[in-house]
Amino acid sequence: MNNLEQTLSIIKPDAVERNLENEIKEMFKIKGFSILKEKKIQIEKSEAEKFYKVHETKPFYNDLCDYLSSGPIVVMVLEKSNAILGNRELMGATNPKDAAEGTIRKKYGISIDKNSVHGSDSVENAKIEIDFFFKD
Ligand code: CMP
Repeated sequence: MNNLEQTLSIIKPDAVERNLENEIKEMFKIKGFSILKEKKIQIEKSEAEKFYKVHETKPFYNDLCDYLSSGPIVVMVLEKSNAILGNRELMGATNPKDAAEGTIRKKYGISIDKNSVHGSDSVENAKIEIDFFFKD
C-alpha cells in the first residue's frame, strides 16, 4: 500500500559544523526520500525549548536545548511512502554507539547528544514539527 507520509528531519549542529549536510541529504535521496522543503537556520534557546517540550522533564532537557541552539541546523520536510518509520530506520538508534551499520548515526554520530540528526517519531508529531518550522 502506498502510505505517502511527510516527516521532519533536522541535520543538527555537529553535522552542519563538519560540512556533512550534502552527504546526509544524499543518504536520504538514495533511500527514496524527496526533500520537499529545506532551510538552514539558527534558532534561539527559547525556540529549542518549545521544539523539545515533550522532553522538558528529562534530566538532559537543558543541555539538549543549549545544543540545538548552539549553531546552524538544516530543517527539512522529507516525503516518501512510510517516511516516518523509514527515516527512523535510516537514522539508527538515538545513541550512535547502538546504531546499526549503514545508518546515519552510526556513520556520523559522535555521542547521544551530538547524534547528527533528528526525525519525527509519529504521524502526529511529524505534523506538529513540520508546522513548527514551516508554517507561514
Ligand atoms: P532526538 O531524536 O533529537 O530527540 C531528543 C534528543 O535528546 C535525542 O535525539 C538525543 O540527542 C538527546 N538525548 C540526550 N540524552 C538522551 C537520553 N538519555 N535519552 C534520549 N535522548 C537523549
